[in-house]
Amino acid sequence: MAKRRQLYEGKAKVIFEGPEPGTVVQYFKDDATAFNNKKQGTITGKGVLNNRISEYLMVKLADIGIPTHFVRRLNMREQLVREVEIVPIEVVVRNIVAGSLAKRFDMPEGTPLPRSIVEYYYKSDELDDPMISEEHITAFGWATPQDMDEIMSMSLRINDFLVGLFLGIGIRLVDFKLEFGRVYEEDQMRLILADEISPDNCRLWDKDTNEKLDKDRFRRDMGNVEGAYQEVARRLGILPESGPGDIPGTDTMQ
Ligand code: TMP
Repeated sequence: MAKRRQLYEGKAKVIFEGPEPGTVVQYFKDDATAFNNKKQGTITGKGVLNNRISEYLMVKLADIGIPTHFVRRLNMREQLVREVEIVPIEVVVRNIVAGSLAKRFDMPEGTPLPRSIVEYYYKSDELDDPMISEEHITAFGWATPQDMDEIMSMSLRINDFLVGLFLGIGIRLVDFKLEFGRVYEEDQMRLILADEISPDNCRLWDKDTNEKLDKDRFRRDMGNVEGAYQEVARRLGILPESGPGDIPGTDTMQ
């Protein structure tokens, strides 16, 4: 395979130069981190599953009119996506109390929220992704008030749609994290959904048993992390038939 230029390496993905202008290749690794890299590990086959799961969800979201970066899947671990300028904000949408919200307010995990809560965090490993408000975002110029209106309304639509989609396969969407990017078309800037949507950045609980089917199994050393990701893919009807782990890692792909 021809050598490609690596543009960026994150904790779970690598971004390579794309085959055509305005595109990049998003490669999904099996590496897992938690607590801002303090905990590191490998979840065998995770990259293959997240590639498929994120594709599936982004295509469904595009069907309801949410603009996304997804262009097409290239192979088991790679997808072609639009090149964006990432807005340095993590948007977290919550439907049920869990994780850092449970900790911050000393509330039991599993308490349903009377309305969905949207939170913003500044994307900065050095600062440990501090929680921020729209005031910080606009004052520091990370996004304009108009951008934030759009991000908020897209995030709530995405939440409504995904809550229903997951409930249809017996899963409660507890919370999740989104990232948005800017693209420029004929001098016009547009915000589109970027990054990934997968069990790495969602909390997914079985509707009947509350069994965790997401990265909390890794964060909390609960075991069977691969099995949980596979179960999500299986219920979505997209479990790769040959099993999750059949193509080599990044080294041999470059
Ligand atoms: P939290 O409860 O730890 O704040 O996480 C809320 C949701 O956001 C959860 O579904 C996991 C996801 N998330 C990420 O994707 N990346 C992160 O860096 C963090 C802190 C959370």
